[in-house]
Amino acid sequence: MTFPLTFTSLTTLRTQVRGALARLVGEANGAGMAKKKPLAWVNFLMAGRDEEQGTAPLPPIFSAVMPARAWAMAAAPAMPDVALDQRITDRKPTTFLMAGRDEEQGTAPLPPYHLPVLPAEVDQWMDAKPGDVIIDGTLGGGGHTSLFLQKGATVLGIDRDPEAIAYATRRLSAYADKLNVFQANYSQMAEHPGLPASGQVQGILLDLGVSSHQLDCAERGFSFQKDGPLDMRMGPNAVMTAADFVNAASEAEMVQVLREFGEEPQARRIASLITERRRKTPFTRTGDLASCIESALGRHGRTHPATRTFQAIRMRINEELSLLHDALEAAVRCLAPGGRLLVITFHSLEDRMVKQFLQHRAKPYIDDPTWPAPRDNPEHHLTLPVRKSISAGQAELTSNPRARSAKLRVALRNNRNLIAP
Ligand SMILES: C[S@@+](CC[C@H](N)C(=O)[O-])C[C@H]1O[C@@H](n2cnc3c(N)ncnc32)[C@H](O)[C@@H]1O
Repeated sequence: MTFPLTFTSLTTLRTQVRGALARLVGEANGAGMAKKKPLAWVNFLMAGRDEEQGTAPLPPIFSAVMPARAWAMAAAPAMPDVALDQRITDRKPTTFLMAGRDEEQGTAPLPPYHLPVLPAEVDQWMDAKPGDVIIDGTLGGGGHTSLFLQKGATVLGIDRDPEAIAYATRRLSAYADKLNVFQANYSQMAEHPGLPASGQVQGILLDLGVSSHQLDCAERGFSFQKDGPLDMRMGPNAVMTAADFVNAASEAEMVQVLREFGEEPQARRIASLITERRRKTPFTRTGDLASCIESALGRHGRTHPATRTFQAIRMRINEELSLLHDALEAAVRCLAPGGRLLVITFHSLEDRMVKQFLQHRAKPYIDDPTWPAPRDNPEHHLTLPVRKSISAGQAELTSNPRARSAKLRVALRNNRNLIAP
């Protein structure tokens, strides 16, 4: 599916982006955040999706240029660079205008992929310096990573999605000597060959969830608003597709998943609806699943009734919470004393897990009613420079509505040694 791009809409778009830029620069500098040159902010804004910037939708160029997806999950774990080259050269000249960022690529500009959230706050708290080694566990479109590279740090970029790996590699090719990318799970950061040994990393970022590219690309099957195959795998290492789960899970398992990962109050009703319907025809499309849920539950308010179901299925098939827990443990192992851990969450389940983990690891003592006195916490490996989560300011919310639910939590690794496993 391609969207025609008229000169008028492009002009309007650029005006809106520039307006957002002016507001963002004003707020960031006014709030005493890291002072940034306007060009650096232009880089952020131009690389994002328009609907995230609160304006008219951008054409989903990156997905539109690969109609028959090169990314056959099981067969091709990594998307070859040549495919990306082909997609870029195939595009009409007008589509190049939307992309920007030539200065980072040194070659033709790439289409938008993802607008990073909380860029000023991540920049400030990561405080990357020349010589630092930073792991970006959720490389995505490379927006946050480009910040660290601009500061002279070396970045080890991890993503389970081969499309993110291909895109960020291409986008950040000007920094090839300082960027190493790994198609892997962030939970593997402490043991992946090629990543540094424990205790040698100055910063780790986890910007959780899906990228705008993944959501916007109907063929990835994440969206209930755009019909596509019921897939939802973030990468080829996911255990199953959403269709596998929806058509095979028992009703009891489905209820549990909808409750646990979607906090869906209507879990029982939706699970029964799905199991009844799949007996007649298995689900294969996102649109079919979404409208089946909508027709049974009706629409109340602005939120689509399938929102929680889609979140729950996505979290189940990508094992998001268990991998997050493992990643937090691994991050503590990787960080050098004084190293910074930054985690951005987008919903309460993730944030609760991150908050509880950080708070426990920041406690010098632990207590239990059955103990005569508090004990030394053997897992006291972190300190919290800010106890509360950090949210986006008004200027960012205006230009990037997706930042509304983003919460950044920050921790510093202390000097205490890890207990040998
Ligand atoms: C919100 S996006 C990150 C965007 C990125 N910070 C940027 O500036 O463009 C999240 C990314 O994390 C990746 N991801 C999610 N879970 C992962 C996991 N367990 N291991 C590695 N990557 C993961 C997704 O594929 C996606 O590309």
